[in-house]
Amino acid sequence: MVLEAIKYRPHSLEILDQLRLPHESVYVSIKNSTDAFNAIKSMTVRGAPAIAIVAALSLVVELANTEFKSSDEVRRYISEKLEYLVASRPTAVNLSDAARKLAKLVIETEGDAATIVGAYIAAAEKMLVDDVSDNVNIGKNGLEWAKAKLGLDKFSILTICNTGSLATAGYGTALGIIRSIHGDGLLSHAYALETRPYNQGSRLTAYELVHDSIPATLITDSMASVLLKSHPEIKMIVVGADRVARNGDTANKIGTYQLSIIAKYHGVKFVVAAPTTSIDMQTLTGNGIAIEQRKPEELVTVRGPVLDKDGNVDKSEVKTVHIAAPGIGVWNPSFDVAPAALIDAIITEKGVAEKDQSGEFQLERFF
Ligand code: MRU
Repeated sequence: MVLEAIKYRPHSLEILDQLRLPHESVYVSIKNSTDAFNAIKSMTVRGAPAIAIVAALSLVVELANTEFKSSDEVRRYISEKLEYLVASRPTAVNLSDAARKLAKLVIETEGDAATIVGAYIAAAEKMLVDDVSDNVNIGKNGLEWAKAKLGLDKFSILTICNTGSLATAGYGTALGIIRSIHGDGLLSHAYALETRPYNQGSRLTAYELVHDSIPATLITDSMASVLLKSHPEIKMIVVGADRVARNGDTANKIGTYQLSIIAKYHGVKFVVAAPTTSIDMQTLTGNGIAIEQRKPEELVTVRGPVLDKDGNVDKSEVKTVHIAAPGIGVWNPSFDVAPAALIDAIITEKGVAEKDQSGEFQLERFF
């Protein structure tokens, strides 16, 4: 069974509620841009490519139910709604990149209101289709790169956050590379960081790894260094990206920066997997990337089903419990930046970027 996090059919959009996974698989209907804004902000849907696609498609559904009197009215309407959607989460560039391209398209499309709506719908639907094929190509490029650099013996991989089918339109980026390497018979084992505070690793990546029967083990974020020290068969750390700056500095889930440091110390390849829509050529370095701060509740509470008296998971009762001392202050940046200097390769659907002799990634060749 294929994991379908975004279910789009003409005039209807449903998303798999990622606040309720892995214990419940419930689809939520997205009827308009307000629903999408709230779903993205609350992380009912998350992952850089997925939020861009859900935002774009929410407007497709909304447009089908909206009357326009003129082409100028529809152009203004779409541009304003896209601007509103972009404000839902600031760090991932895919959302603002998609909004910028769609806004440009509607401004440049000539014709009546129906023609402009039609052009918008076709472009938004294409984003959904393209994301899956881009991810499959990232997987292929990652597999070829790994074979060239690491040889043909089986090896293990460490990853953080969720970068799979749940974070994209399908297949995934970093998790897509793990899927490709596993499919080729080269994967010994995958290790997933639980990814505090929101637990994308233990809830979502673990769910996908179990779903695909990929041999895998969960660790806490603080175990990564000692895991590399004690498991020399781990040859590669592969992570996704929310925004890659022009120089290759990469913003990704909090905890990624420390992985880039320990990879260097242990001589493990540190690889970023990202579609070119995650590369922001307007932002020169990681210093220019806005890091989203999230609410303290993510750190001081956990949510899940209770255990019955025999210690079994009782799915009928899901609770949020408080786990920190009441009154403690909280710092909760959602992302950090791995510096280009510590990144061995940026794997995209268009090819693999490695640093040249001057130590630069030269990402402009993808555009
Ligand atoms: O806060 P999230 O869950 O949206 O963060 C997601 C990540 O950091 C992913 O690694 C990134 O978006 C790439 S997903 C293909």
